[in-house]
Amino acid sequence: MIAWIIGIITLLLLLLMIWRLRSERSESGSNSRNFSSSDVSAPLCRKINQNPKQTFLRSANMKAQRTFLLALTSTASTPSRAPSRAIHLMCGMRCIKSSWTIAAAAFALICLIASGCSAPSSRATKAESTNPQQTGLANTQQAELIHQGQLIFDETPKYAGSYVGNKLACNDCHLQSGTAAYAAPMIDLAGLFPMFNKRAGHVISLQNRIQECFSRSEAGHPVPEDSGEMKALVAYVNWLSRDGAKGKPYKGRGFVKLPALTADPVNGKSVYASQCAGCHGSDGAGVPPVLPAVWGSDSYNDGAGMNDPAKMAAFVFHNMPQNHPGTLTAQQAWDVSAYIHTMPRPKFNQAYKNY
Ligand code: HEC
Ligand code: HEC
Repeated sequence: MIAWIIGIITLLLLLLMIWRLRSERSESGSNSRNFSSSDVSAPLCRKINQNPKQTFLRSANMKAQRTFLLALTSTASTPSRAPSRAIHLMCGMRCIKSSWTIAAAAFALICLIASGCSAPSSRATKAESTNPQQTGLANTQQAELIHQGQLIFDETPKYAGSYVGNKLACNDCHLQSGTAAYAAPMIDLAGLFPMFNKRAGHVISLQNRIQECFSRSEAGHPVPEDSGEMKALVAYVNWLSRDGAKGKPYKGRGFVKLPALTADPVNGKSVYASQCAGCHGSDGAGVPPVLPAVWGSDSYNDGAGMNDPAKMAAFVFHNMPQNHPGTLTAQQAWDVSAYIHTMPRPKFNQAYKNY
């Protein structure tokens, strides 16, 4: 009986909504001119309305990604967030300009949902789990954690310096904040763990895998599992994995497959001089943090995945030279990797060899 009444109210509201939409369209000429292109909030509105993962992946430049994440976190009450909160509010108002219509739609939707669950017990649980204040707070904290995770990922020596022994960031090898295909991306990765690890000889967790990159690629030592840094990194990887199916890897996971060729480090030396030294330096030291070191004390250690010439060849073939990726032959990629492999680098601390 109650469901019927709610149904009729819903129908009336929908009719009202259609009527409002028609009258709004006739007014919209003057409205739209008010939103000039200089209005910063307009693009953000569009972004928030889109699928967040798509938006994130499409915004190649890191600033846009950060702004986007900031927009997600902007309801936090920290003073430093003030400008983005303002943008968020403006955006909110802009997005919900035709508030009347949307309010009616929302109410209609709520009525529909309510009529679907007329059993009192299920209604009680629903009300509890959708308490807007609680969910809002949890969302904000989660978004803040994800944002922190991306900062650590992009600038590891700056944000997790006490665990890093060189000057490399995760982002130097896992390009575009871990979103670039065939640069060992983090997308849809979380659902693959726990997984058997050949190097360790046993099953490891995502946390263990991250620790592995800290003690080898970062030439440092493992971040404790219960530390804020680990929680933030895991939240970030989980966020990039949210659309993934459990156990199903992303298409661009790992690196491209290269044929196993016999490498010539002597030819690699000349490839390095002509194609790489301009950025990574003739001494391999680069200019961290902008241009990472490929050997020497600021580079990964001899226990790292990148220290395997086959892995580096596959990485380099698809991703380097950074300004002209895809211009090297497979042979050149092998040769230059073999050359870099002959150079000195930090030693892996065997105390961390569990993974
Ligand atoms: C020097 C380069 C380098 C740096 C720096 C680096 N990694 Fe890695 N990472 C690798 C390589 C190489 C692999 C192995 C990829 C493969 O074999 O497909 C890898 C694999 C991973 C994997 C598993 C990926 C998969 O597909 O199974 C995770 C997770 C990971 N790294 C996290 C991190 C994090 C977090 C950081 C920063 C704290 C980091 N890495 C820093 C080179 C690096
Ligand atoms: C235009 C500058 C530029 C050139 C040229 C270049 N790189 Fe890079 N390279 C980078 C940057 C910047 C990164 C960090 C990732 C990023 O931001 O794309 C990087 C990352 C790397 C990494 C992983 C991180 C590390 O330091 O170990 C390796 C390995 C690498 N480059 C090898 C090479 C090789 C080999 C060549 C030559 C074939 C080359 N690069 C040419 C700029 C360059």
